[in-house]
Amino acid sequence: MTKPDHTTARDTVSAPALSPATTAKPDLISVEQAKAMDVARMTDLFKVHLNPGQLHFMKLLGFHKIKVERAEGMFYIDQNGRKILDLFGGFGSLAFGHNHPRLLEARKKFQEEKRQEIAIAFMSQYAAALAHNLAKCSPGDLDMVFLGSSGSEAMEAAVKLAERAAGPKRPKIVYAENSFHGKTKGVLAITDGSLYRADFKMADNVVRIPFADIEAVERTFRSDPEVGVIVLETIQGGGGIIQAPAEYWQKLRALCDQYGVLWIADEVQCGYGRSGRFYAFEHYGVVPDVTALAKSLGGGKAAVGAMIARREVYMKTYGTPKTAMIHAMATFGGMGEACVTSIEALNVLYDEGLIDNAAVTGDYLLQRLQALKEKYPKIIKDVRGKGLMVGLEFHDFSQTLPMVLRPVVSVLDDKLKGSLSGFVGALLLRDYDVLVAFTEYNRNVIRLEPPLICQREHVDRFVEALDSLLSRGIVSIVKDFVKSQVR
Ligand SMILES: Cc1ncc(COP(=O)(O)O)c(C=O)c1O
Repeated sequence: MTKPDHTTARDTVSAPALSPATTAKPDLISVEQAKAMDVARMTDLFKVHLNPGQLHFMKLLGFHKIKVERAEGMFYIDQNGRKILDLFGGFGSLAFGHNHPRLLEARKKFQEEKRQEIAIAFMSQYAAALAHNLAKCSPGDLDMVFLGSSGSEAMEAAVKLAERAAGPKRPKIVYAENSFHGKTKGVLAITDGSLYRADFKMADNVVRIPFADIEAVERTFRSDPEVGVIVLETIQGGGGIIQAPAEYWQKLRALCDQYGVLWIADEVQCGYGRSGRFYAFEHYGVVPDVTALAKSLGGGKAAVGAMIARREVYMKTYGTPKTAMIHAMATFGGMGEACVTSIEALNVLYDEGLIDNAAVTGDYLLQRLQALKEKYPKIIKDVRGKGLMVGLEFHDFSQTLPMVLRPVVSVLDDKLKGSLSGFVGALLLRDYDVLVAFTEYNRNVIRLEPPLICQREHVDRFVEALDSLLSRGIVSIVKDFVKSQVR
């Protein structure tokens, strides 16, 4: 008997007739209504259903007046057609700028072809291709890939893999002061922020050491045979854009080899070309045992995170049928459209020379900011970074601000005390249509992580805006900000 041919039915499938709906539909907002919502209603819903406390910070920065209607390339476009230059770049998740045409096209085609999304039933050609591409972009035998949907998830996978590979006799994980590795429960134990840790109970198999201090690493490895893993951001983002010298990384690799400690390099923020190399650790000619990417990996269109591990470490941990499912991908790991977006994004990254652009434009940005530091030595304390991951640190002015302004500033907000970056950020947005970000642990640092498509003209526009703002002087900046709060 020949089997019936189902293939021709593909285009004619229609939804079966369902019985009439008896469940009353709640008062739901439609997609079109959501798009058309005004700022007041948006603010109201944010307050009632999302995060009322966070609204406080939105207001301080003037975000509560803005409704973004579109976003394209280097710009957000608001309800009044105002184009806001994006030097924040979603904390580094917008390497391609907003809505890169090749990414839109890849996604549209994927949808039109009605391809499968979920990758946990059948094997996925998209997840397989993305894993292949990531292995190709990674040095050494960083060949084995786990796909998730955030940086935290990628780091959870990295820590679990390394902890298991190190074995039960070496359960301790070394991490650095001012580190940020995510806010999920596991990685919170290696994220050094009391705000995020609050009073949660943390895993206690962790050891905290200063960042960029090789003697501390050696002391810890030597004195504690239970240490099996060390986890470090290659460039600390939340800590204030902090780098360690090249020798640190080379010695770290040697010490890890000597003591049999596994090194996890968190490249969620500094990786993916941002520093001017695909991975920031490539600047130092060393290869970690495990690494993690997220943010721009999804092209700014999809939520994708990845852990990439050396084959040997991976196989030791999950390489048999018995161990394979201990931490296999979660429900949304390797989703079709997300993977296709990531595959296209990696191709665009190289086709458009964005890694090289990050190096060249980043140097130009650093150079221009350095000149600004020389012009305003009493305001700008330091300028640092690599590629398009740049920090601009202001002097703490809490002691230099005129007495009359101190009480005003002190009632504004804890986070703004002594910190110029909040004021500067708010006024750059209000008066110059420029968006910048801050760092988690050092409130005096403005964090610049623009899309890797950033050109000299964008740098010029930003530096000129900052120059114009700083020329007002600290007292005027603070007064202008205070006025904007009472208006
Ligand atoms: C270095 C680093 N690791 C991990 C994470 C966590 O990533 P996600 O916010 O996608 O969970 C971040 C987020 O900012 C990060 O900067």
